[in-house]
Amino acid sequence: MALRTLGIETSCDETAVAVLEADEQGCRLLGEALATRPQEHAELGGIVPELTVRQHLELLPKLLEEAKSRSGEGKIDGVGATAGPGLAPALLVGLSFGKAFAWAQKTTFHAINHLEGHLYSPFVSQGKWPKYPHVALIVSGGHTLLVEATGPDKRKILGTTRDDAAGEAFDKLARMVGLGYPGGAALEKESRGGVRGRVSLPRPMKGAESCDFSFSGLKNAARLLLEKNPRLAVEGGARSDFCAEVQAAITESLVDRSAKALDQTGIRTFTVSGGVSANQGVLEALKKMAGQRGCDFQCATGGWNTDNASMIAAVVARRVLDGQSSDWEADADPRWSVAR
Ligand code: KG4
Ligand code: ZN
Repeated sequence: MALRTLGIETSCDETAVAVLEADEQGCRLLGEALATRPQEHAELGGIVPELTVRQHLELLPKLLEEAKSRSGEGKIDGVGATAGPGLAPALLVGLSFGKAFAWAQKTTFHAINHLEGHLYSPFVSQGKWPKYPHVALIVSGGHTLLVEATGPDKRKILGTTRDDAAGEAFDKLARMVGLGYPGGAALEKESRGGVRGRVSLPRPMKGAESCDFSFSGLKNAARLLLEKNPRLAVEGGARSDFCAEVQAAITESLVDRSAKALDQTGIRTFTVSGGVSANQGVLEALKKMAGQRGCDFQCATGGWNTDNASMIAAVVARRVLDGQSSDWEADADPRWSVAR
């Protein structure tokens, strides 16, 4: 008999509520309501905590009703909200709202790690439960991580960024050439008209012993290059060559670090999730690298690769199926590690 869970996501600027149906065989999204206000953030050049918190407070009741009406009638068998990592005041809004709703529904409440949601998304976006062991690359605006997951509660961080996240690097470099915020997708689009190698940028951490990432050197090299050649930032000319080189540099770095993690662990299932996995060039290059190693490659599809509440509802469903008890005492943990 399938059960229904409700997930809430408010760790950053997305506000989302999703209802999912699940059993031991897998899960299926019944309805999700998601809102983001990139325009306001774009005008201010980044995430503004006060604005984000107000947005979550205003939107959650409305999105809850929308998600419930999209998913149709049915008893909710467990509620969960992201408790970390993320922006503390934003996390608190979702956590408090989730606890209150779960209490009113007389059901269990689960505090969910946002990154565990990202680990689930490549599998659950295809209706399946995670397969172990696997190596996961999580690449978003806030995180760049390589995780070795050998079981549902056995996870080790193989590599992380020493400075900026990959999405942050895309966004900062895009902003340097006037492509707005968040500029990752715009930079990828612009790169298609350019030729890589016409200008030269470093490949961060390529060949390094550890599986760590670093993007601040690339950012500084790009700044110096643009100071010397201001025409590279001008639309319609060499800007596309600059973007093609940035795209190549970040892609090669992600591929090299992921290959290192796969070779080091010998694991043959590789997954990728997070906003940067919407980048077709990055995705194709990672898929090719995994294929060359005979790895099974799984990526989050559709709306599941960016921040969403479906992945949170999926982790909740797994908790309920496994008979785990409620986390009524759980607090928000802005730095909650995914390692266990
Ligand atoms: O996972 P996500 O929606 O939110 C978090 O940051 O957690 O990821 C957003 C990030 C932004 O940095 C955005 O620029 C980047 O993902 N992104 C992309 C592309 N689409 C989104 N970066 C490169 N190429 C893209 N096509
Ligand atoms: Zn995320």
